[in-house]
Parts: sequence; structure tokens; C-alpha cells
Amino acid sequence: MKVAGKTVLVTGGGGGIGGGLAEAFAEAGARVFVADIDAGLAEETAARIGATAIALDVTSLSSWAAAKAVTGDLDILCNNAGIATKFEPLEQLSPEGFDRVMAVNVRGVFNGVLTYLPAMKARRSGHVVNTSSTNGLLPHGTFAAYCASKFAVLGLSDSLRQEVEDSGVGVTVLFPGLTRSRMSMAMKDELGMDDASWDAFSANMMEPIWLGRAVVRAVEANEPYVMSHPDHAPLVERRHQAIIAAHREPAQPGYAPNVEGLGFLE
Ligand SMILES: NC(=O)c1ccc[n+]([C@@H]2O[C@H](COP(=O)([O-])OP(=O)(O)OC[C@H]3O[C@@H](n4cnc5c(N)ncnc54)[C@H](O)[C@@H]3O)[C@@H](O)[C@H]2O)c1
Repeated sequence: MKVAGKTVLVTGGGGGIGGGLAEAFAEAGARVFVADIDAGLAEETAARIGATAIALDVTSLSSWAAAKAVTGDLDILCNNAGIATKFEPLEQLSPEGFDRVMAVNVRGVFNGVLTYLPAMKARRSGHVVNTSSTNGLLPHGTFAAYCASKFAVLGLSDSLRQEVEDSGVGVTVLFPGLTRSRMSMAMKDELGMDDASWDAFSANMMEPIWLGRAVVRAVEANEPYVMSHPDHAPLVERRHQAIIAAHREPAQPGYAPNVEGLGFLE
């Protein structure tokens, strides 16, 4: 799908990566809605890139309905809003904290799909971009709930892609590694780094506009994945090899797989 002239909404658009997505779509000639729970941040980004700001809490279906009343149907929906947890042992995260990260990072994506996908399918044209993370492919001790939410975004997206591929709708997943944003810059205190180590660490963060441009190219080419930080490939490969290596004897002796029945897994 050519992006120029298309209508795009980016959730969490007032933030770093969302701001980069919104800017890249605007740069490519799209009409952009910058949506954020923080209306001030949405306004700031929208004013900077010549877009329209919308106050949107992705966890609330009524908030999505209000956004849709402003945007009408969309060509491209970017479900990017997300929150992190602290780096801490899982049992130190409160049940409310766990629910919140799932509500924003997973239910927020589902709510966006509920709101905008039916019209895309009816028109047989549209694209959904969901922001996962390298932590949607790789575990990270002390970040289990966040990782669970980002693995869920991948499962939802890959399954949805299969579901809608005959309806003219594409699905792309963005897997950012460390990228400059309020979320990543808040890590300084958490990681307890001194200024010198933090300066070296943060200098290595990618700038959000480049992720946005990579996503624009992926939408135009209908590609399933955007791996903005390919340096993670060896770790992803090692993890997948461990999973493949665990496929040894079936648990039930003599179990004969129904090869025909496996088709639905493809
Ligand atoms: N920055 C990184 O290094 C990094 C790495 C991997 C994945 N990510 C993911 O990228 C996405 C963007 O994060 P970022 O790094 O730009 O962080 P950020 O904190 O700068 O931006 C996130 C934005 O989402 C908004 N938001 C939070 N809750 C919301 C809600 N309920 N409804 C609507 N908006 C809401 C915030 O106000 C903020 O503007 C997130 O999904 C995050 O998990 C970030």
C-alpha cells in the first residue's frame, strides 16, 4: 500500500517511538492523527509534524469510539502505546501493576483492532502495525511481565495476519531495541548508572524517526516484521534453536502425528 494520501493513527504518538512513527508517515505524505493519553504530548508532536492530535486512552473502548468519531475509518492503524514495569523480581510486581501492563500493551492493541479492523476488511484495504519489542522475542530477567505483554503482541499479530490475509489487510510487527524515548531515558535511575556510563549507554540509543521510516517501508512492501536492531539476531537464533532442540520424542510413546491436521498451524 502506498502511504501518501492515506489516513494513519499512531497511539502513544506523543512519545519517542510513536513520535517517530507519526513523523515518518507525515514525511511520506500521509494524513496523521497523533493519539496519546497525555493530550499535551499529542499536541506537541502533532504541532511539530503538521498532524492532528487526539486524546486517547488505549485501555478504554469508549475512548477509542471517541477517537473514531474524529478520524473516521483509517487506512493504517499503529498500535504503539506501551508502558514498562520496573526491573524487579516478578513477585515484587503488584497484581494491579501486572494488570495495567497487560491492559495497555495487549488489551490496548485488541481495542484498536476492534475499533478499526472491521471497516478495513469491508473495504478490503488497510494495514495494522503493532509495536512489540526485542523483549517480544527475547526474555529478560526482572522484566517478565513486560516481556509477557510483548510476546503476546507478537502472537496476536502473527495470528491476525493469517486471519486477514485474504481480506486485503496487512499486519506488521515492529520490534524495537533500545531507542531514545521517555521510557528508555527513565532507565538511568533504575539501572543506577553514573553519568559517564549513562552517557555511553544512551549515546547508543537509536533515534525514533529511523524506526518510523523503516515502518513506512514495511507497510508499503507489506512486510510482516520490522527488525530495527538486527544486532539481536544471534540471541534470537540461540533461543529458537533451544526450542527446536527440545522437539525430541513425543511425550506419548507411539504417538502418530496427524500430518494433514497440521495445516492450520502454518
Ligand atoms: N524505547 C525503547 O527502547 C523501546 C524498546 C522496545 C519497545 N518499545 C515500545 O515502544 C512503544 C513506545 O514506547 P516509547 O519508548 O516511545 O515510550 P514513551 O514512554 O516515550 O512513549 C509511550 C507513549 O505512550 C503513551 N501512553 C501510555 N499509556 C497510554 C494509554 N493507556 N493510552 C494511550 N497512550 C498511552 C504515553 O503517554 C507516551 O507518550 C511501547 O510500546 C514500548 O513498549 C520501546
